[in-house]
Amino acid sequence: MRVLVTGGAGYIGSVAVDSLIAGGHDVAVIDSLYMGHREAVNDAAAFYHVELSDKEAVAGVMKEFRPDSIMHFASHTMVGESMEKPFMYLGENLGNAINLVEAATDNGVERFILSSTANLFDEPERIPISAEEKIVPGSPYGESKYMVERLLHWTHVTKGLRFAALRYFNAAGCSPIRGEDHTPETHLIPLVLQVALGQREKIMIFGGDYDTPDGSCVRDYIHVEDLAQAHVLALEALQEREVLFYNLGNGSGFSVKEVIETAREVTGHAIPAELADRRPGDPATLIADSTKIREELGWTPKYPDLRSIVQSAWDWHNAHPEGYRS
Ligand code: UFG
Repeated sequence: MRVLVTGGAGYIGSVAVDSLIAGGHDVAVIDSLYMGHREAVNDAAAFYHVELSDKEAVAGVMKEFRPDSIMHFASHTMVGESMEKPFMYLGENLGNAINLVEAATDNGVERFILSSTANLFDEPERIPISAEEKIVPGSPYGESKYMVERLLHWTHVTKGLRFAALRYFNAAGCSPIRGEDHTPETHLIPLVLQVALGQREKIMIFGGDYDTPDGSCVRDYIHVEDLAQAHVLALEALQEREVLFYNLGNGSGFSVKEVIETAREVTGHAIPAELADRRPGDPATLIADSTKIREELGWTPKYPDLRSIVQSAWDWHNAHPEGYRS
């Protein structure tokens, strides 16, 4: 297939590009390099340095590359930041997606895969959270992803675009050649590893009074290569199927304190930690029930345990202490 990947220079998108190329697909990347890194893009992919807000430029890429499928990773993605900048999240995440989807349908794209999020499930009735759980976005970020899911629903109804919404829980870990390098970094595992590298004095634990076994937030960490595999499987499934919604996680929850303890074991560093206030927008517990994608698409994670996920991140961060600048 000919796949256009937005955000293909970013943390998850760059690994998906590698998986697509390994699977024999032709790939082009659109990235503004707002968060992404040009060095993270596979040499076999065409690269367009384009902002999704630039409707004409996006249409130009469609006309030149002529994709039959799109994977849409490019987005503002931080729950905490979205509580401070709701209009940026709601406006730009939806506005950019509208530009992309309109250009896609104008230019014969048949399949679309969206990076959606566990932040759709702020008040789950059951944990682990299944794909059928009721949707209550937990932040402007989650709401923006839900709006894009609805955009895809109506584009399917009116224009026949097939789509998959993949609702990830906490993407983590690194492939041997692609890492996690955000500026600023806000994610737990890379921050913990920065402490182990001596780049940060300590890690702050945001909230110790949640209704969880040790009082810190519980998350379901999923390896970035397993996420990439899910994207490729969903793309292939959309040849037969019209609309897919899947939750993606390993089905086990780990608290912030357990993640720090695992990183101590993996790195052999003491990793000092300190309790701090809760971070606005954080739900107490997010654990995925991924039975649906396992049964329907045969998705099988290669890194189902936290230790191997943290180890893969440590291997990359240790080899690239300054991220892609190393
Ligand atoms: N945390 C800390 N200290 C830190 C950083 C994070 O205690 O210095 C905690 C957070 O409060 C949270 C947990 O570690 O409880 C994980 O936080 P991350 O920032 O690593 O990830 P989030 O759960 O906030 O968000 C991630 C993605 C979102 C996605 C969400 C789905 O960034 O895009 O997972 O679960 F929506």
